[in-house]
Amino acid sequence: MIVLGVESSCDETGLALYDTQRGLLSHALHSQVAMHEEYGGVVPELASRDHIRRAIPLLEQALNKAGMPASAIDAIAYTQGPGLAGALLVGSAIACSLGMALDKPVLGVHHLEGHLLSPLLASEPPEFPFVALLVSGGHTQLMRVDGVGQYELLGETLDDAAGEAFDKSAKLLGLGYPGGPAISRMADFGDPEAYKLPRPMLHSKDLMFSFSGLKTAVLTVVNNNGGAANVCEQDKANIARGFVDAIVDVLTAKCLSALKQTGLKRLVIAGGVGANAQLRASLNAAAKKKHFKVYYPELEFCTDNGAMIAFAGAMRLQINPQAAQRDYSFNV
Ligand code: KG4
Ligand code: ZN
Repeated sequence: MIVLGVESSCDETGLALYDTQRGLLSHALHSQVAMHEEYGGVVPELASRDHIRRAIPLLEQALNKAGMPASAIDAIAYTQGPGLAGALLVGSAIACSLGMALDKPVLGVHHLEGHLLSPLLASEPPEFPFVALLVSGGHTQLMRVDGVGQYELLGETLDDAAGEAFDKSAKLLGLGYPGGPAISRMADFGDPEAYKLPRPMLHSKDLMFSFSGLKTAVLTVVNNNGGAANVCEQDKANIARGFVDAIVDVLTAKCLSALKQTGLKRLVIAGGVGANAQLRASLNAAAKKKHFKVYYPELEFCTDNGAMIAFAGAMRLQINPQAAQRDYSFNV
């Protein structure tokens, strides 16, 4: 069975073809980052319009790469939510229109399930059950995963998501959008002793997170130094280092607690912040020390993409072929 995946929840348009026999056949992606950069964040209206412009050429690209006609598609999976309403509507309208034109069934996929299952696309995928840390721009969650569709929420953030904290702190340092990768690169040149920032909820004895206080701590340090414009490059790097060390410490500690609580020995990281080099280094070191295995998605599948939606759709269909329907009255 060949499933087309359509992702358009935020600022990436992703189209991909996944074959349940042969694996991922192809994927095509367009990131709108350059377009939103000058506004310092995603402009929803612009995002929707760009998805409209990009989707069909990306579909053609994915089909060409896979060397197959659209008629070979068996089902179409699209991101149903969560995400920007207008952006989601574009993906769902395209998926349903294609479904209608090709007479193929469609199914809506939860964006977070796409992220959660994305490490299974790697060359050495984890076996079930595992603990998953989902760290994206909009969510921070720890989950116990026993199989496709068998998810137990163990803990989540009370306020900002980890990616949001990265982006907002980077903005406070004048590092532009999206800030995650920028603040991470800068942190490498920072002195770890210069700024010790708070580790929120580190000792809360549960699996909940809170990152808004950490962002406020960055704001306070920046203000105490006369504002971002007056902070020299080395001090920016020092603040970045203080921030990254704090957030990585909390994420690592909560992952260890979740493994202890569940008794599981496999940890899976998913979502955009899963691309973070310092987080990976910290988790790899902990895995070695505490004898568990840690799995990541391929770097290109950490952030939003169509492959994870095609894959999640295919997994859902393997369990329940009725999950996709010839009902084209899309909803998001
Ligand atoms: O999963 P994702 O693409 O989108 C959502 O579903 O939210 O995650 C995007 C988030 C952004 O906040 C971005 O700054 C962050 O992931 N991110 C990173 C890195 N790469 C992406 N954060 C830290 N370090 C990175 N290397
Ligand atoms: Zn995402």
